[in-house]
Amino acid sequence: MDFKFAYSSLFASVFWFLCVISYANGENEIFEITDYGAVSGGKTDSTNALMSAWKEACATNGGVVSIPNGIFFLRGAVFEGPCNGETYFMIKGTLIASDDASLDEDYWILFHKVDGLTIFGNGTFDGNGAKAWSYNTCDRSTSCKRPPSSIKLNTLRNTVVREINLLNSKMFHLTINECDNLSANSIDIRAPADSPNTDGIHIARSNNVRVTDSRISTGDDCVSMGDGNTNVNITKIWCGPGHGISIGSLGKYKEEKDVSGIFVDNCTFTKTNNGLRIKTWAPSTVSTIVSDVTFSNILVDDVENPIVIDQYYCPNNLCSHQGESDIEISGVKFVNIKGSSESKVAVDVQCSKKKPCKNIEFVALNLTTKATGQPTTASCSNADHKFIDPSVQVPSMCS
Ligand SMILES: *[C@@H]1O[C@H](CO)[C@@H](O)[C@H](O)[C@H]1NC(C)=O
Ligand SMILES: *[C@@H]1O[C@H](CO)[C@@H](O)[C@H](O)[C@H]1NC(C)=O
Ligand SMILES: *[C@@H]1O[C@H](CO)[C@@H](O)[C@H](O)[C@H]1NC(C)=O
Ligand SMILES: *[C@@H]1O[C@H](CO)[C@@H](O)[C@H](O)[C@H]1NC(C)=O
Ligand SMILES: *[C@@H]1O[C@H](CO)[C@@H](O)[C@H](O)[C@H]1NC(C)=O
Repeated sequence: MDFKFAYSSLFASVFWFLCVISYANGENEIFEITDYGAVSGGKTDSTNALMSAWKEACATNGGVVSIPNGIFFLRGAVFEGPCNGETYFMIKGTLIASDDASLDEDYWILFHKVDGLTIFGNGTFDGNGAKAWSYNTCDRSTSCKRPPSSIKLNTLRNTVVREINLLNSKMFHLTINECDNLSANSIDIRAPADSPNTDGIHIARSNNVRVTDSRISTGDDCVSMGDGNTNVNITKIWCGPGHGISIGSLGKYKEEKDVSGIFVDNCTFTKTNNGLRIKTWAPSTVSTIVSDVTFSNILVDDVENPIVIDQYYCPNNLCSHQGESDIEISGVKFVNIKGSSESKVAVDVQCSKKKPCKNIEFVALNLTTKATGQPTTASCSNADHKFIDPSVQVPSMCS
């Protein structure tokens, strides 16, 4: 869109139109990494070849970086804009990372400052993380060095990520940070259930993000949403194994911002240890608000804790346990959440004494225990809440 505005003449508009048409006909200019020295086989480092192909594609409106079939070793790369128009990153083969756990950056592959990027192609980003997982001490120490995300999308606008596979990241698979208008669909993410901090998709400080039609199996959250997000839609996600879909953890860092407009719809959780979760640290270092959140049409199958609001979040006892969370949670709806729970307490809402939760609503819950098929229960504290039409809900009230 910006391109169009920048060139207001009729000629430019026609030119733009032709470019789009030519892409549909497969006539965009393609920059294939093997023409820049990349060699398949997983041994030769393709970093320079990829960077050269990117540089030329980025300088060409509608340019396509192409990774053909094959396995290409990539030590690490930064793909930076601004580019001259739309840019495509087409991966058919596999990019594989080194197994070295000591990368300096917080990413393996970074896309930065690009407006109008599409990443696609049915290929695979293999983070090769197995060795790094055993060095990850973040569950034992607060000063641990965190391994890199496989892909970090940073300060991008008007982005599409579709039909890609992410495998065995050293940490988060896909990080979306400070992006505006991003759609991710048909993303397949896989890492073992016991791999640490391997969140599927982590979204932070972004606006207008849609994630849909994706299958995520990991050792941590399938989708986690950090601070500063607005207008995020997560739909049609199959999650499991993993830790579910979460907002948070929030309240750990001073510069955090409010969260609002989060919509999670039509998702299935299979054997995850949480389903839907909002978590904030106690005590917290900031005072922010989480508002306007809806979780609807969710199926849980053998999930340990289907619904959790935890304002006393403190994994592995890494905090002081002194003080309350200062994060206000206001306006959260759980609508049509069905299926089986491992725990008897399927709804566990523990809000802050200092900032009690406001306006928490439960509609059409039907959660039974996996083992016996008996009704589950709900436990709430410091939460202003309402069960709508309780006679047709399980559970139907907080104890
Ligand atoms: C990726 O797979 C989808 C579904 O099979 C197919 O429609 C699409 O054309 C493929 N994309 C590429 C670039 O091969
Ligand atoms: C969002 O990005 C997509 C993909 O680049 C674009 O087609 C669409 O027009 C953008 N939407 C807005 C509101 O800018
Ligand atoms: C998210 O979904 C809601 C409800 O369908 C819709 O109103 C909103 O525009 C969507 N937001 C985005 C970013 O797609
Ligand atoms: C979304 O809803 C449709 C229709 O109820 C269902 O067939 C599909 O499995 C759902 N998808 C997920 C990810 O739950
Ligand atoms: C809840 O689900 C069970 C088993 O799936 C079903 O038999 C029951 O009728 C449902 N209850 C309500 C109130 O929908």
